[in-house]
Amino acid sequence: MENSVLSICDLAVDLTIGREKARVLHEVSLTVTGGEILGLVGESGSGKSITAAAIMQLLPGGKAAITGGSISFRGQELTRKTPAEMRKIRGKEMAMIFQEPMTSLNPVFTIGRQLTDVIMTHQDMSKRQAEAHATAMLEAVHIREPERILRSYPHELSGGMRQRVMIAIALSCSPALLIADEPTTALDVTIQAQILRLLQEAVKQTGAAVIFISHDLGVVSQICDRVAVMYAGEVVECGGTAQLLHTPRHPYTQALLAAIPDFSTMAGQLSAIPGTVPDVRSILPGCRFQPRCSCTQDICTGKKPENITVRAGHTVRCWLVAEEEAGDAAVAKTGCC
Ligand SMILES: Nc1ncnc2c1ncn2[C@@H]1O[C@H](COP(=O)(O)OP(=O)(O)OP(=O)(O)O)[C@@H](O)[C@H]1O
Ligand code: SF4
Ligand SMILES: [Mg+2]
Repeated sequence: MENSVLSICDLAVDLTIGREKARVLHEVSLTVTGGEILGLVGESGSGKSITAAAIMQLLPGGKAAITGGSISFRGQELTRKTPAEMRKIRGKEMAMIFQEPMTSLNPVFTIGRQLTDVIMTHQDMSKRQAEAHATAMLEAVHIREPERILRSYPHELSGGMRQRVMIAIALSCSPALLIADEPTTALDVTIQAQILRLLQEAVKQTGAAVIFISHDLGVVSQICDRVAVMYAGEVVECGGTAQLLHTPRHPYTQALLAAIPDFSTMAGQLSAIPGTVPDVRSILPGCRFQPRCSCTQDICTGKKPENITVRAGHTVRCWLVAEEEAGDAAVAKTGCC
């Protein structure tokens, strides 16, 4: 995609578990442009966090390794960067927010110390300038009494407040890419809505590219411009949010959507997807979703589906869709999805 901040092409990651080696990411291709929020959605174990770790070059050492593909960030190939080069990029040009801010914040230092440390590590600022910038960053994430918060320790703040602080830290060096991994999962719905609004506002103001990771397609649909659906280490469908929500093509996307409750009408039936995401060590040949798919055909068990473009910007990895697109009336007629 033109003007993309991040462009991942056919990324493969292998994981060593005990004596076994398993392909945990397979042919993952994604792009995200400045000012855009890309949602990365899928059930637990679908490979969202491993994708984020691969981008940040923070895969568990000795256990996981990139074995194929490329990660181009602002024209630089990240898979060829040294750890020292990546340390300079992380926190400055790209930043990350996690589900539980307590794991990222140091409990023994004040918020002010942690925020100014990040600012002074990556920007040429004096202590006084960094303190002023820290105050401005807390104001930007709508924290009242920023001076008091700067003097506070993480345990003195609520979960929502800590997540605002994490967003302030992540944005303090104006990163070109922000990865938010389940940033609202631990928060109640009201605070969740505030944090989502805050992220949208930050993207508008800074023009950063954002990857927003969630297992919840409902949350993703609220703030994302485009959505990539992951299943068992593969992107199975990707497209504009409205397109994906209104005309999902992959049976897995359709099943995820059917599992979202509609509280406004309390109508219809919720359908849970039978089974679970397979363990990376026991993935069968062919389509990875096949054991759980209600539309499976002979070809699905033997041959891996290709990623095909069904419309500009809308890709799907499914044999049924490929055959429908090829105009195979016999298959299209089954209409099982
Ligand atoms: N350190 C690890 N050791 C062994 N297996 C791992 C490790 N990290 C990830 N995996 C495996 O890799 C696969 C993808 O994991 P990942 O953490 O990326 O999933 P996820 O989509 O982020 O799930 P969740 O929604 O639960 O965070 C899973 O099968 C998981 O069990
Ligand atoms: S390729 Fe086959 S098994 Fe896989 S999602 Fe499509 S129809 Fe279902
Ligand atoms: Mg995860």
